[in-house]
Amino acid sequence: MEDLESLKAEVLAAIAAAQDLKAWDDARVAALGKKGRVTELMKGMGALPVEQKIEMGKKLNVLKSEIEAALENRRNELAEKELNEKLARETIDVTLPVRDEVQGRIHPVSKIYEEVVAIFGEMGFDVAEGPDIEDQFHNFNALNMPANHPARQMQDTFYIPNRNSDDFDDSYVVRTHTSPVQIRTMESRRPPIRIIAPGRTYRSDYDATHTPMFHQVEGLVIDKNITMAHLKGCLYDFVKAFFELDEIPVRYRPSYFPFTEPSAEMDIGCLKTKTELKIGAGTDWLEILGCGMVHPNVLRAGGIDPDEYQGFAFGVGIDRLAMLKYGIPDLRTFFESDVRWLKHYGFTPLDFSSMTGGLSNNGGSAR
Ligand code: DAH
Repeated sequence: MEDLESLKAEVLAAIAAAQDLKAWDDARVAALGKKGRVTELMKGMGALPVEQKIEMGKKLNVLKSEIEAALENRRNELAEKELNEKLARETIDVTLPVRDEVQGRIHPVSKIYEEVVAIFGEMGFDVAEGPDIEDQFHNFNALNMPANHPARQMQDTFYIPNRNSDDFDDSYVVRTHTSPVQIRTMESRRPPIRIIAPGRTYRSDYDATHTPMFHQVEGLVIDKNITMAHLKGCLYDFVKAFFELDEIPVRYRPSYFPFTEPSAEMDIGCLKTKTELKIGAGTDWLEILGCGMVHPNVLRAGGIDPDEYQGFAFGVGIDRLAMLKYGIPDLRTFFESDVRWLKHYGFTPLDFSSMTGGLSNNGGSAR
């Protein structure tokens, strides 16, 4: 019969010496496993006379619980040790400054897009979307431009044949403006509506300030008792926030759009010299956007009763905003994919536009 005291000492020493969970398990198996030393002793008890059997049973049970307690202790220690090592390995120093060598740049169009969404988002507008390929109903008819309406000619439209119809009225268009999203929004939800719809638009035109594909943001607000005063207040707040100025002179000139009545164009005050354009001061005016009260026919086309609801709308050229805000002279360069241009006029991806953290972050890398 083994000396229980020295057996205990050996087993406990083996447990204490285990440096990882694998060694710990080896020690456990060697003592309490199927063929472990303690297990063997228990098996051997059967051959003992009754008196000794009882005594030995007690002793072995005590020994077994002591070993189990030691095992449990050691396992907790090892688990904690392992966790601490893992935490130490995976430590992240959150005080380290962000690496500034990011190569990519955010295109000015994307930047303006972000800025406009940040400003109107703060005012409670949702972002709505519509397809680039539109039917004529949404691009024209529903916007109070029936077939042969003269305003259709103003838009240098790209038409796309309809495979299922020879009728010209059934051909599709690549949308000439973001205004069709007004109709799609009215079709899909009930007032109150407060959305902006940024996106790509297309017209057959090409010079320093026009490209066949360009970008617009549409705005639409529909509710009960909406007036021109809401339009003016909203757009005034927008231009101030956008140009990051506390004050900016604005004026509204009467204009014409088929889908609004009355219609206006909004100008902002500026100073034009031979070499510079300074926004927010001076005696010159710069046209910035088109706007107006949503025409009753447009509300009807969108399934909204004009006797119950009114609204205002506006449309802004995103590329034009980018040219003005960041002093980029030629629109065509926007779409040439020249990395040197992008490096100069682009923005670091780490500068987010927000109303609290800063819109343009002082012009990003362009300045
Ligand atoms: N859709 C017009 C265009 O592309 C811009 C516009 C003007 C949109 C007035 C509007 C608006 O919503 O009210 O030229």
